[in-house]
Amino acid sequence: MPVSQRIAAVPPTSPPPDHAPDNASAPAPAARRAELISALGPLARDFAIDWVSECASTNSALLDAPPPDDGRLHVLVADRQTAGRGRRGRQWLSWDGASLTFSVLWRFPLGAPAPAGLSLVAGLALARALEQLGVAGLQLKWPNDVLVHGDKLAGILVDLVAGRARTAAAVIGIGLNLRLPADATIPAQGGVTDLARALEAPLPAPAAVLAAILTELHRLLDTFATAGFPALRGAWAQRNAFAELPVCISGEKDVRHGICAGVDDDGALLLRTADGIERVLAGDVSLRPLAGDGR
Ligand code: ATP
Ligand code: BTN
Repeated sequence: MPVSQRIAAVPPTSPPPDHAPDNASAPAPAARRAELISALGPLARDFAIDWVSECASTNSALLDAPPPDDGRLHVLVADRQTAGRGRRGRQWLSWDGASLTFSVLWRFPLGAPAPAGLSLVAGLALARALEQLGVAGLQLKWPNDVLVHGDKLAGILVDLVAGRARTAAAVIGIGLNLRLPADATIPAQGGVTDLARALEAPLPAPAAVLAAILTELHRLLDTFATAGFPALRGAWAQRNAFAELPVCISGEKDVRHGICAGVDDDGALLLRTADGIERVLAGDVSLRPLAGDGR
């Protein structure tokens, strides 16, 4: 059932975070950053991490002022975004202490694969990390959503940064609902959910969740850089929310119907139609279940 109400801006009465910072005298973002670095352990040296209390959009901030290339993965986390973005100009809504919103700047190594599969790689990393935390029923909706039993738990926005002759870098932005406020209303296509509902155990601290995601993202980006999306395609397909189900693909100009036949070696969606298999690139299209499929 679609959830479709208007949402007020960040409510002034957002619930406090579940986990107060250990060091009460330090500013919250600094304490959370320290907690994250500690949770990452030795892997922390591969990351440069900024954690701010507020910014418009972590993706936009990294795109507007990319940090210098020092060989590390640059991460920007915000407690609160005032203009969070989804794909195609859509809005991403989040609440202070109730959501995890962050972006990672990944510089393409020389000879890296076509960037098309990157959003799927990020989705797979997110799914695996959440599975390790104990979430069951995780599914991936091509190209950029993470669902739990059909409801949207997280979204991914990849912005590519063009270099002189090739894609130089990508900003991988992730929005994950931790514990949505009881009065949150999100204008969304399907249902929405949060990590607190998806876990039987208590919700871990945001820094612990983020450490699990960054660890998996680090691992899968390495695999992607060296072996390309084919090495991850099977793992993505196992979690495909619409595998062998009827879907429609709506673009700017047309709508195509078919059966979701998985993804190709470069991350393109494979749509089985009466005319055979069609490849669909993520760009300006959206996948929807065909009417009748309740997901
Ligand atoms: P597509 O299939 O084209 O990706 P989508 O509905 O998933 O479609 P996105 O651009 O991926 O759209 O994501 C943005 C959408 O996510 C918003 O339009 C809104 O419907 C929904 N949304 C916004 N904030 C949240 C949130 N915190 N949790 C879940 N869904 C959200
Ligand atoms: C989607 O479902 O369309 C993607 C949503 C991505 C939201 C994240 S939150 C962190 C980063 N900053 C943004 O403005 N968007 C992404």
